[in-house]
Amino acid sequence: MADAQYDLILRNGSIVDGTGAPAAPGDVAVKGDRIAAVATPGALRAATAATDIDVGGQVIAPGFIDTHTHDDRFALATPDMAAKVSQGVTTVIVGNCGISLAPLIPNSAFPPPLNLLGKRDDFQFSTFAEYADAVDDTKPKVNVAALVGHQTLRVGSMDDVSEKASVAEVVAMQGRLAEGLGAGAIGFSTGLYYKPNKAADKEEVASLAGLMADMGGVYVTHMRNEHDHIADAMEETFDTAREASVPVIISHHKCAGPQNHGRSTETLSLIEAARESQTVGLDAYPYAAGSTVLDPDNVNPDTRTIVAWSEAHPDMSGRDLADIAGEWNCSQREAAVRLQPAGGIFFLMAEEDVQRILSYPHTMIGSDGLPHDVFPHPRLWGTFPRVLGHYGRELGLFPLEEAVHKMTGLSACTFGLKDRGEVRPGAFADLVVFDPATIRDAADFKAPTEQAEGIDMVIVGGAITWRDRAPTEARTGRFVRR
Ligand code: ZN
Ligand code: CU
Repeated sequence: MADAQYDLILRNGSIVDGTGAPAAPGDVAVKGDRIAAVATPGALRAATAATDIDVGGQVIAPGFIDTHTHDDRFALATPDMAAKVSQGVTTVIVGNCGISLAPLIPNSAFPPPLNLLGKRDDFQFSTFAEYADAVDDTKPKVNVAALVGHQTLRVGSMDDVSEKASVAEVVAMQGRLAEGLGAGAIGFSTGLYYKPNKAADKEEVASLAGLMADMGGVYVTHMRNEHDHIADAMEETFDTAREASVPVIISHHKCAGPQNHGRSTETLSLIEAARESQTVGLDAYPYAAGSTVLDPDNVNPDTRTIVAWSEAHPDMSGRDLADIAGEWNCSQREAAVRLQPAGGIFFLMAEEDVQRILSYPHTMIGSDGLPHDVFPHPRLWGTFPRVLGHYGRELGLFPLEEAVHKMTGLSACTFGLKDRGEVRPGAFADLVVFDPATIRDAADFKAPTEQAEGIDMVIVGGAITWRDRAPTEARTGRFVRR
């Protein structure tokens, strides 16, 4: 229809607009890459569109924003990104936990967890701008917004990452971070928990994060500690952000280790108290197990560990570390040494804490999925449908509108993603259509790449990218510049 008023109309929907407002029946019209109209039932009766779809009463919501990902290279190497699109995700935030693919061409040192993003040769971008252009050239199926990682800066600028950065090294890192922020990065992330970053103190981090007080952007942190010393780590986090005068986001908030189970009442009240004097956000994934590199020094025989990948023994992926140690007749720590380099899934949290943190009104949803793992944590394929299905509908942790808000409007607002995360005229036409009665995650710790159910359609920048449980031809994702 060449003379149609709109490119696309979705009719007969239940609109959950991402703000937390109650669902309302209506139609959504799209022109180009933007939402052109949001109308009450019947108001668009006479309107015409090139593509006209009756969604049969299903929910029309803003496309989900995966606030915590390691999809830096996934978006380039596997632009279909089925693990994300199949869940209704339309934007991913990459560069979390202090590791970003750019700006870095590693020479000698290439310490983990950089290897969660790829191999040494995969790091090919000496500037952040080149990475941003590569995303735009690749046109993945979802939008990419990016953080600059502290460890990436350290490895690229320092002689010895086991030390605190010298004044000259801080200046070099500031230069690289400024280039990234200038090229459109939405913030800066740290992974102070990891060995190559441990020596960085508050001063080093604040002198980098402080650039964003002028240039804009958020400070996002995988804190120094999520175990026994979590309260100290939170205090450090708040101090650093106050010193730098920037908003801060705590990544994948959790209370790890059996001795810390139940402490989320304490940590959430620390966040609540800090929020009275500074801007604090947090993200979480809906599982009681975490996943990262398998560090033999952190192996705890009292908690279950599944091997997610191993370069030395690829066939051990998906197996319990305890069983491998039994077969090899050695300790779990020794087995972990032999598996190196490797990744693991760690059952560290209490379900009670997971639910309390997810229910906290300021918690955003982020998968923390690891897309290159051989046997990935099921959060990679299941996070968003699991929050809506299991935690929302089945357990009743929150109403549908609030669950959607945690993965759309709240996320866009907290990370400063303009015109995203809401169904309203003028916003980008990033949308998902799903069945609230059947949406559910299907991936689990036995079959971790099972596609979620109940997602009918995904629209990115006005184009349908997913329909009837399969990808379409359209690849309309772009690099989201701040
Ligand atoms: Zn992390
Ligand atoms: Cu992470």
